[in-house]
Amino acid sequence: MQRPIAVLDSGVGGLTVVKELLKQLPQEMIVYYGDTARAPYGPRPTEEVVSFTEEIVNKLLRYDPKLIIIACNTATAAALDKLKRSLNVPIIGVIEPGAKAALQATQTGYIGVIGTEGTIKSKAYDQALLAYTKDIQIVTQACPAFVPLVEKREYHSTKAYHVVYEAIGHMRSYPIDCLILGCTHYPFLADTIAEVMGENVRLIHSAEETARQAQKLVAENEAEDQAKAIIHGSTKIIHHFLCSGNVDSFQAIVEEWLAAELGARKRTYSRVDHSA
Ligand code: DGL
Repeated sequence: MQRPIAVLDSGVGGLTVVKELLKQLPQEMIVYYGDTARAPYGPRPTEEVVSFTEEIVNKLLRYDPKLIIIACNTATAAALDKLKRSLNVPIIGVIEPGAKAALQATQTGYIGVIGTEGTIKSKAYDQALLAYTKDIQIVTQACPAFVPLVEKREYHSTKAYHVVYEAIGHMRSYPIDCLILGCTHYPFLADTIAEVMGENVRLIHSAEETARQAQKLVAENEAEDQAKAIIHGSTKIIHHFLCSGNVDSFQAIVEEWLAAELGARKRTYSRVDHSA
C-alpha cells in the first residue's frame, strides 16, 4: 500500500496546505486530520496545544505516513521542535517556509505578520525571520476573530470585511509591502485581507513553500515509492479526511475549498474522536 502524507490542523485551515499538495504532488495520497471539535487552538495555553498535537500525530502514525506536515502555525510554534526530536518519521511545519517566502518578496524590508494569539506571542515568526537577516522591521498582529469566521464558513460574508478591517486596518500606516498570513486558516479570507491592505501589499501564504519542501523531502526519501505511485496512477489513490467534530460541515468546506483540485478523485470523510 502507498504510504500517505499526513497533514494536521486544529480545523479546516490545513486544507490551504492540502490544496498546494494536491497541485504539486498529485500522485501522493493524503490523510488529513482537523481537530474541529477543539478549534481554535490559538487562545489555548502552549502545553495544551503541545499535548493535542502529540495526540493527533500518534493517531496519524497508524497510517504509516512517509511525511507528517503540521499545517497549523500555532501547533508548529508550540510542538514542532519537540516532535522532531522524538519521531522517526520526517515532520515539517509551516513557519519556516512562510518566513522564507516573505524574505524573498520584500523590497521595503517591512514585513507584517498576522496570526493567532499563540503564534504571535511565541514570536516564532520574528525568530525565523531574524535568523536570516537583522535588516528588517517586523509588525505583528494577533487576529483571534478570524479562525471562528472560517470554521463557521463565513469567509465570504460582509461580516468578514468588518472583522478583518477592525483587526488589521491600522497596519496600513506602516510601509509594509508583504504580509505573512501566519495562520493556515487565513488564506480563506485572502480576498478580504487583500482588499483591506490595498494593492501594494503582497500576501504571503506559507502553503506553496511548504508543499515545495514536502516535495523535496518525498523525492529525497522515497524516490522508489513515488515511482510506484505514478505507475499505479493517481486515480487509484483515496484521500482520507478526518475530523473530530461535525462531519457534514467539515465535508462541505473541504468540497468547496478543494473542488478544483479533488475533481473526481476518490475521498472518504469520517469523524474520529480525538481521544480514540
Ligand atoms: N490554522 C491554525 C494556525 O495556523 C490554527 C488556528 C486556531 O486553531 O486558532 O495557527
